[in-house]
Amino acid sequence: MNQPFDLFQSEVIQNPYPMFDKMRREAPVHWNESVKGWFVTRYFDVRMVLRDPRFSVEKMAPFADRMAGSKQDKIAFLAEILGGWIVFKDPPEHTKLRQVLQGAFMPKPLAALRPKVEAIAREILDDLGNRTDIDVIADFGVPLPATVIGDICGIPRDQVYRLRHWADDIAKFVLQGRSTPDKYDRSYNALVECVDFYRDLVADHRANPQDNLTSLMIDGGDVGMPLTDDEIVSTLVLILFAGHETTTNLIASGMFALLQHPEQMALMESDRSLIPSAVEEFLRFEGPASTLVRIALEDIEIGDQLIKKGERIFASVDAAGHDPDVFQGAEGIDITRRRNRHMAFGKGIHLCLGAPLARLEGQIAFEALFDRYTGFRLRGDTPEWRDELITRGLHELPISMDRRQ
Ligand code: HEM
Repeated sequence: MNQPFDLFQSEVIQNPYPMFDKMRREAPVHWNESVKGWFVTRYFDVRMVLRDPRFSVEKMAPFADRMAGSKQDKIAFLAEILGGWIVFKDPPEHTKLRQVLQGAFMPKPLAALRPKVEAIAREILDDLGNRTDIDVIADFGVPLPATVIGDICGIPRDQVYRLRHWADDIAKFVLQGRSTPDKYDRSYNALVECVDFYRDLVADHRANPQDNLTSLMIDGGDVGMPLTDDEIVSTLVLILFAGHETTTNLIASGMFALLQHPEQMALMESDRSLIPSAVEEFLRFEGPASTLVRIALEDIEIGDQLIKKGERIFASVDAAGHDPDVFQGAEGIDITRRRNRHMAFGKGIHLCLGAPLARLEGQIAFEALFDRYTGFRLRGDTPEWRDELITRGLHELPISMDRRQ
């Protein structure tokens, strides 16, 4: 059957914004058969969903219960670890985890991180040697956040390459990669390896405390509430997942946005002080966490639609970021935009804890690239977006560039 608003059509995956515009005009809150849930596209409706405590984030346990058959054990394990994630917890458990974790992301430790992140970015570019044809994703966008997260959590540098493979395979489960038939097996195997690795890491840190996030969780942070080993391992998996691919996509999608808008590229080349506002604009224009999912805890009205208790709501942060009632010239990019009220980091109690770090990494990534290179241009055909609804990112971004003299 031909669905109205089929979110999985390939042209919609490649460019969802014309369909989002149509939805916003004709059916801003509608039951969407392609995702079997309510799809919400207007800025203020999305904001309301994210702020309202009647919408829950606890989706893992009901999901595991729904699944039956031979894969049940594997799914139960996946749901158990992922169900421990702060991002899938409602208060009061959410509140405790958040109080402990936020110490690590406060401005002070973050300021101390700047020179370290700058050094990591420089080292990655040094490794390119004389190469001026690169894939922004594989050669820069992936190693930068992976190394930064590795350092924050205390993962030895020579083990960091393993993070990418785990993050990719776990994503198959979380993001429901429809095109991967063996997704449960791959996610399960990756998670088993990753959990073993992190259990050893926690044991090492118990024996030899360090000045990093893993030791902070063992100690209980400023609030003195130590987390259990299960909570720590689960949070380490989350941070690997939440802080890795999202930041990669911020860097790559931002560069792609500049390549598609040469006048903005020229502005960026001519005035490096625009980098912070440019990063905000990249987040609005192609937010890496494009859709946030909630479950209604009771019957709730949004717009003139009645959402029934237990139904799922897909709040499209990327559609909200293109709402012309809130953003002037929403369909284009403007790296000089002020008061950019995008919701790429969410809203309400689950507002991204890593946002200051992601901003720092995004800004340093562009500073490092533009300091060393100029003349960025796309190589080959138009790059393709990955077939995913919950996150948004390109498969690869091959470019050529010239070394500054
Ligand atoms: C551009 C990069 C990033 C984007 C776009 C992003 C986006 C988001 C969004 C939208 C949420 C809220 C999810 C929801 O409400 O359902 C979130 C939560 C979270 N993010 Fe990020 N994130 C990024 C980078 C990071 C980094 C670098 C870290 C840590 C190293 C991180 C850690 C977290 C954590 C721990 C939460 C859960 C907060 C809570 O539930 O209270 N994120 N992120």
